[in-house]
Amino acid sequence: MAHQNTPQPPASNTPASFDWNGRSGEVWRDNQSRLDRMLAPYGAAAVAAASPAPGERVLDVGCGSGATSLELAARVGASGSVLGLDISEPLLSRARERVPPGVPVSFALGDAAKHALPEGTFDLLFSRFGVMFFDDPIAAFTHLRRALAPSGRLTFVCWRPFDQNDWVRLPMQAVADILPPLPLPGPHAPGPFAFGDTERVRHILTSAGFTDIDITAFDSPQVYGEADTREDAVAAALELALQVGPLSRAMAEQPPELRERAAAAVRAAFEARATDHVVTMDGAAWIVTARNAVLR
Ligand SMILES: C[S@@+](CC[C@H](N)C(=O)[O-])C[C@H]1O[C@@H](n2cnc3c(N)ncnc32)[C@H](O)[C@@H]1O
Repeated sequence: MAHQNTPQPPASNTPASFDWNGRSGEVWRDNQSRLDRMLAPYGAAAVAAASPAPGERVLDVGCGSGATSLELAARVGASGSVLGLDISEPLLSRARERVPPGVPVSFALGDAAKHALPEGTFDLLFSRFGVMFFDDPIAAFTHLRRALAPSGRLTFVCWRPFDQNDWVRLPMQAVADILPPLPLPGPHAPGPFAFGDTERVRHILTSAGFTDIDITAFDSPQVYGEADTREDAVAAALELALQVGPLSRAMAEQPPELRERAAAAVRAAFEARATDHVVTMDGAAWIVTARNAVLR
């Protein structure tokens, strides 16, 4: 049976799984500071790779609650600008609340695959884990590339494949014999791991009109739970995993008895990764950079 001892990739290709204007968006909004802490190393690595300069115009695609939009704004300064674009109203509301007066950031609600953008304008298209959800990624990246200045560049960070990411692999392995098997999405189905295959990423970006594509592995531990005691750190990690990501989707609509057994198994997996105050899980990402190939 597929679920015995085999970690399952998340069911990620149904719209209900990524309900960014419903439960997913609300959960991400409510856990904003924890998720930002968890994802900060990846965002910092991507910002460093993008190297935003004072005066540049940046589009932060799938900006969520705005952490990277603010980071980018600090780099481009008052003479530059950052537009955060996201499909999720709950997350954008949180993003808007976070902008201190005078910081050159604005936000727009829309589907990045087709939202109207000024042509040939941005110096940098940037994203922290916000570009893996498109149904038709070539069309989406073609649309986004048209908003890039001829000399513009693209930088994003995305996850490597599911089985290289302990933060999902270990919890899902822990529940593999407890929960029923999940419907298996194809490896390219829209979702967190859609860009794990570098050949596919190269094909998408080349087809969309990008060149000089570089894809570099970036590994980092993530703070999954943090508290004053080890026990509370494990509880915090479990609480987060039950709300966000594949485990939350695997648990959805399961009877309480199975949920309890699965939660106990995940707690044990986190305990194995806990130190005095923190549970860390390893994550594996790609940092992708490219340039606009199309001069107009
Ligand atoms: C994994 S979250 C990352 C959020 C944010 N970049 C961060 O690092 O905190 C993915 C984000 O992509 C957004 N998103 C998904 N599909 C989108 C689309 N087609 N257009 C715009 N945003 C989208 C979601 O609403 C969500 O905010």
